[in-house]
Amino acid sequence: MSISQAGSAAPSHEELRRWDRERVWHPFTQMAEYEPFIIERAEGCTLIDIDGRRLLDGVSSLWCNLHGHCRPEIDEAIKTQLEKTAHVTALGQSNPTTIQLAQRLTTLAPDGLTRAYFSDDGSTAVEVALKMAFQYWQQRSDPRPRKQKYVAFANAYHGDTLGSVSVGGVARFHAMFHPLLFEVLRAPSPDTYRRPPGVSREQACEYYLAQLETLLADNADEIAALVIEPLLQAAAGMVRHPEGFLRGVRELTKRYDVLLIADEVAVGCGRTGTMFACEQEQVSPDFLCLAKGLTGGYLPLAATLTTDEVWNAFLGTYAESKSFFHGHTYCGNPLGAAAALASLRIFEQDRTLEQMQPKIARLSAHLARMAEHPHVGDVRQCGLIGAVELVRDKATAEPFPWDEKRGMRVCDYALTQGVWLRPLGNVLVILPPLAIQLEELDQICHAVEQGIAATI
Ligand SMILES: Cc1ncc(COP(=O)(O)O)c(C=O)c1O
Repeated sequence: MSISQAGSAAPSHEELRRWDRERVWHPFTQMAEYEPFIIERAEGCTLIDIDGRRLLDGVSSLWCNLHGHCRPEIDEAIKTQLEKTAHVTALGQSNPTTIQLAQRLTTLAPDGLTRAYFSDDGSTAVEVALKMAFQYWQQRSDPRPRKQKYVAFANAYHGDTLGSVSVGGVARFHAMFHPLLFEVLRAPSPDTYRRPPGVSREQACEYYLAQLETLLADNADEIAALVIEPLLQAAAGMVRHPEGFLRGVRELTKRYDVLLIADEVAVGCGRTGTMFACEQEQVSPDFLCLAKGLTGGYLPLAATLTTDEVWNAFLGTYAESKSFFHGHTYCGNPLGAAAALASLRIFEQDRTLEQMQPKIARLSAHLARMAEHPHVGDVRQCGLIGAVELVRDKATAEPFPWDEKRGMRVCDYALTQGVWLRPLGNVLVILPPLAIQLEELDQICHAVEQGIAATI
């Protein structure tokens, strides 16, 4: 055994690459084709690999980094917490940092979201909301025990645990697990680009709401909750919903007595230009799920916010067993909570939402230019989320075959320009940290544009 294998000296780059290829199983990655790509450090919006190569982070470390990497304020907050304690269980115990985060989040959140349940990641935030909604109907003062089903949208993505996969609708990821999943009532994806024949963009909102209303009207007595990614379906390819759709969904769920779960894992925490995406349509859901950017992209922490109405259904004596019997070892971890509080302070100190406005406008200008390309079928934007969909035929929106890896090819080109991106199939995603500078945003967009020109 060499010294480095025994762990007493730093491994060589070659060893790291070999171990990475042979020992580490990467998520959503074909390991037979995996080429090690090892980031050692990061500064601001730049990632630095073990060879010292500098890459602009065009996708915010998978959609979670907000204020740049190594922000001194967040680093300090974590260190300060670390000097107190790294872990306090949330099962029957608490800690000052997590309490303050609950207080802060419920103050910032849309009206009525007064209670915060903390877990670890986006999937668990959704899983918690699904289970709470189920249990709510079973044990509220006027129980409705038949309400056990969920409504979700085609092409939805809510995470990878079995409950969140059940409500998910991306066949490529989810079809394999079908025998393990619970049944879900599926509404059509409220897609403004690929619409049913004869439905114009202007008619799309009304059309999709009418479809949903039929589903709710026919099944309301059995539906516990509807789960939606507000404003856009992220993993589906940043699929934009028609304006007014979310508001319509809120109205319908109220009318048919169905709880509304807003999964803001991807779109929350400032990403769309407001702190919460629901604000853009003046919607207060019954559950709001947050993760990804909650800690500024530093540590795993998630929150499921809910209402007094839901909370009250879980109150009773110990003997009544009405508690929420769900919890994870690291629920409400104080290091994550310290990072989240520091991130929220940066929003105020840097006036992040205001500072985003020129960046959002600059992204729009870049996307408008890219839309002219003969193989760009659609460009989509929501705040600092940009998407460019590559198609074989612009007139019919016929996609390029999946296995041609068109998106990946553009991203490989972007790497040669010092920009790291990760596509969603044929959809190029531009989702930089909110702290991106205008020149950096230009560099990212130019890399995408040149990548399209070079590879399509
Ligand atoms: C809308 C949405 N919900 C849930 C998740 C799952 O989050 P996590 O990967 O943190 O479990 C994601 C992840 O991309 C997401 O986009």
